[in-house]
Amino acid sequence: MLETNKPFGTDDASYQAAGEIAGITQLVHDFYVAMDTFEQAQGIRRMHPKTLDLSRKKLSYFLSGWLGGPKLYAQEFGGISIPGVHQHMAVGEHERDAWLLCMQHAIDKQPYSAEFKYYLMTQLRVPAERIRQACAARTLASKA
Ligand code: HEM
Repeated sequence: MLETNKPFGTDDASYQAAGEIAGITQLVHDFYVAMDTFEQAQGIRRMHPKTLDLSRKKLSYFLSGWLGGPKLYAQEFGGISIPGVHQHMAVGEHERDAWLLCMQHAIDKQPYSAEFKYYLMTQLRVPAERIRQACAARTLASKA
């Protein structure tokens, strides 16, 4: 089991608990395997390119910085707004929940402590819900 002394969310404690970039890469790999597999995720799978290599790299690099580790996404791709990069997508409750289902499945496969698994899932619900809200607000504005 991966351990850290600092509370999650402090410095690079979450990054360490996730097993640094190697652990995050494995998590993202398992996330996209789940997306390829789960019936409920086929809608969001179709939003992605056929080949997931770049999607894997981008999500891994983003999570590295987001968890307090090296800001690999910013170094390689520049600044990012999570609702912004999803603004052209149709993300409602079903899509949000399908994404979170794949992530829950992937997290459960990792050698993380139960506390970190719970923490990470709780944290990821926040941007996932923000994406859904931004999509809902855009849909409302387009109808006004
Ligand atoms: C709420 C449900 C979500 C759906 C349906 C979704 C779907 C997608 C899709 C289809 C892409 C494009 C992939 C590609 O072209 O390679 C993408 C990109 C991305 N997503 Fe999500 N996503 C969701 C939530 C999240 C969350 C919660 C995060 C962060 C914690 C996230 C982080 C990213 C990143 C970093 C990229 C790459 C952006 C870029 O540089 O183009 N996504 N997402």
